[in-house]
Amino acid sequence: MSTDSSKQTEVQKLYNTYPFPPDPLSDELPPGYNWRWSWNAAYNFCVGEKPTRQNIRILDAGCGTGVSTEYLIYLNPLAEVVAIDISSNALSIAQKRCSRSGVLKNHQPSVSFKELPLEKADQIEGKFDLINSVGVLHHLPDPIIGIKSLAQKLAPGGLLHIFVYAQLGRWEIQLVQEAIALMQGKRKGDYQDGVAVGRQIFSSLPENNRLVKREKERWSLENHWDQSFADMYVHPQEVDYNITTLFELIDASGLEFLGFSNPQYWQLERLIGKSSQLMELAEKLSQRERYRLIELLDPSLTHYEFFLGHSSLSRVNWLDDEYLKSAIPEVHPCLHGWPSYGCLDYEYRPVDLLEGEYNFMQSCNGKTPVAELLKGITLEEVRSLQERQLIILASH
Ligand SMILES: C[S@@+](CC[C@H](N)C(=O)[O-])C[C@H]1O[C@@H](n2cnc3c(N)ncnc32)[C@H](O)[C@@H]1O
Repeated sequence: MSTDSSKQTEVQKLYNTYPFPPDPLSDELPPGYNWRWSWNAAYNFCVGEKPTRQNIRILDAGCGTGVSTEYLIYLNPLAEVVAIDISSNALSIAQKRCSRSGVLKNHQPSVSFKELPLEKADQIEGKFDLINSVGVLHHLPDPIIGIKSLAQKLAPGGLLHIFVYAQLGRWEIQLVQEAIALMQGKRKGDYQDGVAVGRQIFSSLPENNRLVKREKERWSLENHWDQSFADMYVHPQEVDYNITTLFELIDASGLEFLGFSNPQYWQLERLIGKSSQLMELAEKLSQRERYRLIELLDPSLTHYEFFLGHSSLSRVNWLDDEYLKSAIPEVHPCLHGWPSYGCLDYEYRPVDLLEGEYNFMQSCNGKTPVAELLKGITLEEVRSLQERQLIILASH
């Protein structure tokens, strides 16, 4: 039987052979943004206001080849960033990526890379305001040990951002993984051989085979890279979650669940909204049961992405007029194509701004309170800009 440390050695071997993600290095700054890696945008999403501090500490736990680390540095110019991983090859690419793109040039606080398993995060001094762990916990021999270790390093008022695999949308991946392992027999653990066997399976199967169709539909764009193919089909250690096991993991962290980062998927109305009878029945369910119902009715989800925080972190609401008037508004940091009436929002969705909304946003300077900017716009419309995350508000 393999022990936890031998499993970790296997995972390390996979990522030293196939560092992930395979995105090529570039001489340019990262294109666009991912709001989950912007402290202001993520905090605003979870808490409903701008955080009080910008000189924060960020931990990228399982940074791989540094795509996320580069964005974390870029989108949070005043943050100290520590990136850890168990693959020395991935870490060395991550370092090269960040130096080459120029993202470090205007970044005064320190950025460091360390070969360290996240289970040993206690070896790093101090706590972190934002911890990012994307695509990592499900590859640990014991994800509960991992999440507890990260939770211990979360500063009061901080956010832990996690991405783990979901069972239901990955059914075909599990089948292919098992098929490759069967064909490899004793060669299992030779990852290059696993990729070769897997590619042969896909090219031999009939074109109308369900696995082939699914691979073409969902994954072939990324899987032309051997690194992605290996990460998907020949992984030595993978746990896929469902809502029940996901919340067991979350509860073990001792932190509060602050929400999924894709709330649209978790709207039951989009699935059974046509039937008021079914909606009424669903109202009797707990929140977690409702989540389970949603994933059962729409089993397309391939991963869960969510935020956790300490229970002291409470959500701000802007219903009180006087409170709203005293807030300092600024344009959301992750808009694409701003300033323009037809920019894209933080999720790259098109926005159509009314003239009053546009003028208000143009006048937001991060210093003047809402009360002094109410020309051609009502408080209700300011609230709507905040709810749609086109502006963020500071209450301090
Ligand atoms: C699928 S990759 C994800 C990389 C990166 N987070 C991303 O999403 O682009 C998983 C990474 O986690 C790292 N990893 C696996 N187990 C780890 C552990 N116990 N501690 C730290 N990193 C680990 C692997 O070496 C690999 O680089």
